[in-house]
Amino acid sequence: IPVEPFDLVLFGATGDLAHRKILPGLFHRFVVGQMPDTARIIGSARSDMSVEEFRGTVRAAILEQAGDEVGPEEVLADFLSRIDYVRVNATGDEGWDELAGKLRADRVRAFYLSVAPSLFAEIAERLHAGGLATGDSRIVVEKPFGRDLQSAQELNAGLRACFDEHQIYRIDHYLGKETVQNLMALRFANSLFEPLWNSTHIDHVQITVAESLGIEGREAYYDKSGAMRDMVQNHLVQLLCLTAMEPPSKFTPNAVRDEKVKVIEALDPVPDEDIARGQYRAEKGGDGYLDHAGDPSSRTESFVAMKVRVANWRWSGTPFYLRTGKRLRARESEIAVVFRDPPHTIFPNVGHLRGNVLVIRLQPDEGITLRTTIKDPGPGGLRLKEVSLDMSFAEALGADSRPQDAYERLVMDVIRGDQTLFMRGDEVEAAWTWADPIIRAWDERTDQPTPYDTGSSGPEDALMLMHRDGRRWRQVG
Ligand code: BG6
Repeated sequence: IPVEPFDLVLFGATGDLAHRKILPGLFHRFVVGQMPDTARIIGSARSDMSVEEFRGTVRAAILEQAGDEVGPEEVLADFLSRIDYVRVNATGDEGWDELAGKLRADRVRAFYLSVAPSLFAEIAERLHAGGLATGDSRIVVEKPFGRDLQSAQELNAGLRACFDEHQIYRIDHYLGKETVQNLMALRFANSLFEPLWNSTHIDHVQITVAESLGIEGREAYYDKSGAMRDMVQNHLVQLLCLTAMEPPSKFTPNAVRDEKVKVIEALDPVPDEDIARGQYRAEKGGDGYLDHAGDPSSRTESFVAMKVRVANWRWSGTPFYLRTGKRLRARESEIAVVFRDPPHTIFPNVGHLRGNVLVIRLQPDEGITLRTTIKDPGPGGLRLKEVSLDMSFAEALGADSRPQDAYERLVMDVIRGDQTLFMRGDEVEAAWTWADPIIRAWDERTDQPTPYDTGSSGPEDALMLMHRDGRRWRQVG
């Protein structure tokens, strides 16, 4: 279904995210007919280039991302014909009038700020003062949304000085991932799981976002952030919220986000003994974090594992273990809900029976599996065996349905005016309120994060975190 006609202004249009995700995402939505004929994308950046030159860079980016699946040349040319370019100086006066002249009345205006957060307030102010933004326009901002509570509050204040909260779209691209939304469908569109979804039946939850890449090429940003700010405060907290939240009364942006805020506010402070921090080290002849960081004594963590308690009626006694890191054995992300073991074994000689595990796999191969115990088929008496009931989305949806990238969905949601999958200002601030003391406690220490081998599943301390509680991490890779 096509969305309403729109003018999308993309600030930072020559940047990496625009070329890797946003513009190819828009192209895919165009191909499936979701972008109306009159829609237009106006790239804007500091670089002095013609519209033709800009279209050339977009074309190259789409070819690189879509490869053989790019489709007929005419379609690509048609898409490119909807793209314009205006050179704008975000911190000066140049370009703003020209940009204003390009915007048409009677259509949705969206301003996507794919730029450094230090520019958010100034761009918002110029959009507002110059009359480019109307009361219905949308402003979209990317992470990092602050590096602590104070900076997040300042960013919020800068945006809210010119836009209402209902116009502000703060992206956490994990919320645009297919399986992440499927978690909500699984929980709230089925009657099977919800009665079991509490500490009476669930032993613990493991949330893992493992990456195989290191920080190469992003060290200037990453070394000042670390895994806690880069991944945990946003993506992992969001995954935890969707797993732990109460059913909203309806599927509306504020009903969903109210429930997520309640989860974040219920998070207990995490004591240092419940956290493991790691930094990947050089392998024989290879390179390690410190070779990339540009600071040989950097204490920035490229891995974090922690035990988090959601202090409310539903989850008391069921810990959530979070883990994320770079240069691990595989790129693999999942939420594993580990049910309690059966209380009693009736089968002779089978020993202890393990609980069911429901795994919501985010990547690769999005899908859901449920570990169950069945009778090992065949003669020879009753022997038990663990098998997974497996639903791979690629298979379930048919081989030719291309999975939608998170950015595709999120950009279209902006045009539709649907904020459900975007973080509200109070939500971001609540997440920083929880994360800040953890980061501060680490800053006050002087020790290094524990080294771990590239290609491993993280440092020993992370294993100990679970062992101590008589539990085990699921294997990465
Ligand atoms: C980004 C982080 O937000 O998410 C990166 O800044 C990380 O460090 C990336 O690699 C992971 O996203 P995805 O979609 O590849 O899992």
